[in-house]
Amino acid sequence: MKATTSRFVTYRVHMLRALRATTVSTALAIALTLLAASATGQPASVGGAKPRIVNGQGTEAGQFPFVVALVDAETFEREGAFDAQFCAGSLTTPTTIVTAAHCVVDDQTGRQAEASSMLVAIAENLKGANIRMVRVSAIAVHPDYDSERVTNDVAVLTLAEAVTDVPIIMPMRPGDIADYLLPGAPVFVVGWGNQSLTGNSYPEAIRAGALVVFPDGACGRNEPYKIGSVTFDGFNLDEADPALMVCAAGVTASGKVIDACQGDSGGPLIGGQGGALRLVGLVSWGDDCGTRHPGVYTRITAMAEFLMAKNAISTLPPTIAPALTVDVLSGGLRVTFAITSDGSVISTFAATATDSVTGATASCFAKPRRDRLAPFCTIAGLANGVTYSVSGISANEFGNSPPAAPIAAVPISVPIPGAIRGVSVAAGGAARFSVDASDANGSKLASVRVECLPLSGGLARSGRVVGVAALVTRLAPRRYSCAVEAANALGAARSNPRLVVGRR
Ligand code: ARG
Repeated sequence: MKATTSRFVTYRVHMLRALRATTVSTALAIALTLLAASATGQPASVGGAKPRIVNGQGTEAGQFPFVVALVDAETFEREGAFDAQFCAGSLTTPTTIVTAAHCVVDDQTGRQAEASSMLVAIAENLKGANIRMVRVSAIAVHPDYDSERVTNDVAVLTLAEAVTDVPIIMPMRPGDIADYLLPGAPVFVVGWGNQSLTGNSYPEAIRAGALVVFPDGACGRNEPYKIGSVTFDGFNLDEADPALMVCAAGVTASGKVIDACQGDSGGPLIGGQGGALRLVGLVSWGDDCGTRHPGVYTRITAMAEFLMAKNAISTLPPTIAPALTVDVLSGGLRVTFAITSDGSVISTFAATATDSVTGATASCFAKPRRDRLAPFCTIAGLANGVTYSVSGISANEFGNSPPAAPIAAVPISVPIPGAIRGVSVAAGGAARFSVDASDANGSKLASVRVECLPLSGGLARSGRVVGVAALVTRLAPRRYSCAVEAANALGAARSNPRLVVGRR
């Protein structure tokens, strides 16, 4: 019950919705099983395996913006993107989609699909409004793609126009830190593939499955591998080749297997976190779906030479300076980097504060965030009241962006509030205060007041400090706690209080 029985093989007719969940070699078997199932009312199972299911979850809007749907151009014209979708792919540069070879090659005839026969749909919901369709100008299939052994199952679609406003995903490369693919490493599979137990149930909105990477022993040496309470069977070397493939599967909290399925093919297996998301695999094949076998993915690092040759790996440094926002802290500055995308993959943001007098510098670094909120970092150890010039860059392994236009900023702390030196209360409840000046601590004071809070109920009264004096009127004949309150951009502070009694 190997894999070749269940991979989705042909392009064109077979890729259409109605037939998509079947494969050429198992179509009959599945049809019979489904017949039997509908007769007994039981869920279908194929070849003695568990019913197919993805058991994934919805994704947050914008979580995987680089995942695209491949749609059949003719079907799209007549029936729209949902019915025309047959595979997925990933935007790896503004002009390239990386997908599986078996999505674009008819395994019966060995013929490659025409570029004009398909479109790339950029959308999370395939029935949503404003689906962006991009034409494909060329299709390149890995020269060593073998549809029998499903080795080198990778193809590059070149887009007819550049997509510069959608973040890309960087393919993992042989030199990348290896822990993306350590056994047990968390990975995600994303796509619009079948999620049904018994037949066809394709989601309109893209879904994700949280998987873990299997050790090579389970992906070529037939060793079992346990995730939670579920023990998976491995594949033999004549089935799965760990040099060219990655095995992965997941298990839900309630012990259900999470797996890719028909229609997910070509879509990404995503490793890493935060700004270091990497394309580590492509949905390639499996032993049906959601069984006790892992899903099998094209190992992207083994495809690097092909991807480089087809310009599907960006080697660009960022070309746009990050847009900075600077927030003032006591003894520091917080720098927030707005996300700008020029198609390059940013791995680090850096900000530097330069003391405008001494020229001394201090820096901080931030990584792009997985939630795509603006990254920020804090430059600490600065002096309050000193003017700094703040600039920043974004960077990746290929170089740095130009620096952002400098912003002047002055770290401050909350003010030191001065003190009440003396008070005289006149009949009618007007109190004249003489006060020591407050210290703005490096910034402008937003306000300085003497505020009197009644000790046993009633209204608070206050008056602005002008120079070294303040007038607080209409104090009732009761006891008040009065203090100087000084505020600047960072906050407010109160002096020691003084007891004041109003007069009729
Ligand atoms: N070959 C399938 C397709 O064309 C994907 C199969 C993945 N199967 C799995 N159990 N992980 O959509």
